[in-house]
Amino acid sequence: MKNKLEVKDLWHTYADGQREVEVLKGVTTTFEAGKTYAIVGESGSGKTTLISLIAALDSVQKGDITFNGKSIRKIGESEFRLRYVNIVFQAYNLIRYMTARENVEVALDFAKYVGDEHARAYELLERVGVKRTEADRLVNKLSGGQQQRVAIARATASEVPIVVADEPTGNLDEKTEVKVLEILKSLANEGKIVIVVTHSPKVASELAATTLRMESGKIISASAKRAA
Ligand SMILES: Nc1ncnc2c1ncn2[C@@H]1O[C@H](COP(=O)(O)OP(=O)(O)OP(=O)(O)O)[C@@H](O)[C@H]1O
Ligand SMILES: [Mg+2]
Repeated sequence: MKNKLEVKDLWHTYADGQREVEVLKGVTTTFEAGKTYAIVGESGSGKTTLISLIAALDSVQKGDITFNGKSIRKIGESEFRLRYVNIVFQAYNLIRYMTARENVEVALDFAKYVGDEHARAYELLERVGVKRTEADRLVNKLSGGQQQRVAIARATASEVPIVVADEPTGNLDEKTEVKVLEILKSLANEGKIVIVVTHSPKVASELAATTLRMESGKIISASAKRAA
């Protein structure tokens, strides 16, 4: 069976002082294994909120998110974050007192990688343009863009079925952007569900098989790219 992530009539509010602000208003959509999805839309339309819920960084309030029919609530949020989803938010979740290489090795360990972890970690980092000298540096001594690439390298090292990324190419030069897009596509080719929030129409069109457009907390369109 192909992995399937379903978002069902998802509503979300934030408390803003005394007021409750509704930021998701009934989002329903399905993500399938082996495909890449872009989420686009104006600032404030709810994109980050949606993928934060998909990544179990925040709790579902109303509606449901299921993986192969099982609710995140049932799986457990921490279990979901650990074994189901890899999160590429800028610098999110990198272990700051470790080097870039060690961060990738943690993911390799977790995925029970058999082989030379050192060499593999350097290789994965090199693929995203992180050189050896940078790979051996503590992550909090790397630039924002470099940290982002470490997060992407780590995503490629792990075996989880879902990868979510918020503006993964936001801080990158054009050459690195192309590399990162190729890597994200290759993760989908390995059978993962890849979901990317982006403001860049170019990134969306190059990367995604399906582009979901959000407006005021709703998905207003889903356009599929025809197979080339
Ligand atoms: N923790 C929070 N508390 C209160 N309001 C929030 C919180 N996080 C987000 N919001 C509000 O919810 C709305 C949706 O925010 P969200 O971050 O999902 O938008 P976005 O589509 O990712 O925007 P951008 O493109 O600017 O990143 C915005 O109006 C934002 O101000
Ligand atoms: Mg956002």
